[in-house]
Amino acid sequence: MQTTIFVTGGAGYIGVHTLVCLLEAGHRILVLDDFSNSSPQALARVEEITGIKVPFVQGDVRDTEMLKRLFADCAAHEVPVSCVLHLAALKAVGESVSLPLKYYDVNVTGTLSLLEAMRTAGVKRIVFSSSATVYRPETTLPYTEQHAIGPSNPYGQTKAMVEQILQDFCHADRDFSAIALRYFNPIGAHHSGRIGDHPAGIPNNLFPYITRTAIGSLPVLPVFGTDYSTVDGSGVRDYIHVSDLATGHVKAIDWLCDNDIQGFHPFNLGTGRGTSVLELIDAFETANGVAVPYEVRARRSGDSAEAWADVSAANLVLNWRAQHTIEDMCRDGWNWQQKNPSGYEK
Ligand code: UD1
Repeated sequence: MQTTIFVTGGAGYIGVHTLVCLLEAGHRILVLDDFSNSSPQALARVEEITGIKVPFVQGDVRDTEMLKRLFADCAAHEVPVSCVLHLAALKAVGESVSLPLKYYDVNVTGTLSLLEAMRTAGVKRIVFSSSATVYRPETTLPYTEQHAIGPSNPYGQTKAMVEQILQDFCHADRDFSAIALRYFNPIGAHHSGRIGDHPAGIPNNLFPYITRTAIGSLPVLPVFGTDYSTVDGSGVRDYIHVSDLATGHVKAIDWLCDNDIQGFHPFNLGTGRGTSVLELIDAFETANGVAVPYEVRARRSGDSAEAWADVSAANLVLNWRAQHTIEDMCRDGWNWQQKNPSGYEK
């Protein structure tokens, strides 16, 4: 019998890249998104890339009764949901500091609602979109999955709380299994240039800030600190091509569904390599033959000097490894930016 992968937040940046990989791997999907920070147009682009129509429902993950109806409908049509991929969440760190209740509501209450509906429907597997942000900032690198949990802002707290809820739920119901994928820094875009990241307003994250400075819609890139004890003084992160991150999701879902996996399993998704802000700017300029004017500013509060992943667990258990280089990420991200200066807007 064919089964359905139910993808919450499927129209977002990570979502659309993952949908492409899921569809290409032959999975049947159903997307739920409220389009509060995404667009149905993104799903149309997924269809354009894969040639497969993307079924979706517009709705809020906190609407438990609606979720129960969706799961029941899938079962009634003999395409029961075998696994949930839970990506729907708010993700702006700064906003989470000023609007914590909103973040706890959408991210934590939203997950509780989803788990309740899954329990009613007998859906036993979930892959959750977590973040390296759950780790307590540390100088001993790389971060393994055993590293202490200790997020430094409400957004990170919501991710850590949901992980704890999943662990407790798996403990209470031995048939239930969960994976938390702890993303490092996803950047770049699908090589077609049809899907990519387009944050509303002024970007918080480095890579979209670089592409918008390069295209001239922002005058200058602020570099937040060159006085860290790193290779060149600027902050170091583990940047990963969003398409590699996407294949990591498919590997995680397949591992859960094809084996009789029980319990809660966290996996880092990164490359295992660190790149500094100045190195990334340089790589972007070299890969694309375009200038990125920048100015050194003070450190951004809450930032750590360095972070990169130990990816051996995902490699050994999920048989997954990131394939793309920093140059690929820069080239594909620039291709998307140039072809879609206003994102998915016409
Ligand atoms: C940030 C979030 C993290 C979230 C992730 C999503 C913080 C403290 N952390 O991670 O919780 O999961 O985004 O991708 O916000 N930088 C500049 N200039 C800029 C922007 C960033 O120099 O305009 C530097 C930062 O100081 C850092 C690096 O670039 O060294 C990466 O920053 P960013 O892309 O915001 O990611 P993180 O801070 O790692």
